[in-house]
Amino acid sequence: MNIQFTWTPALSVGDDKLDNQHKQLLEQVNALLDALAGGQNNLIVIEQVLKFLDQYIDEHFVDEERYMEEHQYPHLVEHRALHAQFIERYTHMKERIYTFESVDGMLIDLEVHLGRWWIDHIGGADKDYAAYIRTRS
Ligand SMILES: [Fe+2]
Ligand SMILES: [Fe+2]
Repeated sequence: MNIQFTWTPALSVGDDKLDNQHKQLLEQVNALLDALAGGQNNLIVIEQVLKFLDQYIDEHFVDEERYMEEHQYPHLVEHRALHAQFIERYTHMKERIYTFESVDGMLIDLEVHLGRWWIDHIGGADKDYAAYIRTRS
């Protein structure tokens, strides 16, 4: 059993749509870790989850950036840069998933740079815009 990443109410950004996207993203990260731990037999599942994540991450970033823009969040540029940095690192990570060279190493990498990243990002930078928007409305 791998580490599981779970959304908690403490991670809420005060918007149902964005909260649901965060929940779904963490669930899919868990699904990816489980599928990867199962090895090559789970290649089809891995492909499905990655396909879903690719699309869903893009969608979430677009929605979230639009939300910050609508509320004139002053740190939108910095936040957008964090999203872009993530996409770059995630792209590299994905290339290595299919090699199955070191599944254990890959699992640790994904736990730290994918699962942990999402939890830290939601609980940090995302909560920052939520706090700003809350004080303005
Ligand atoms: Fe987010
Ligand atoms: Fe974000």
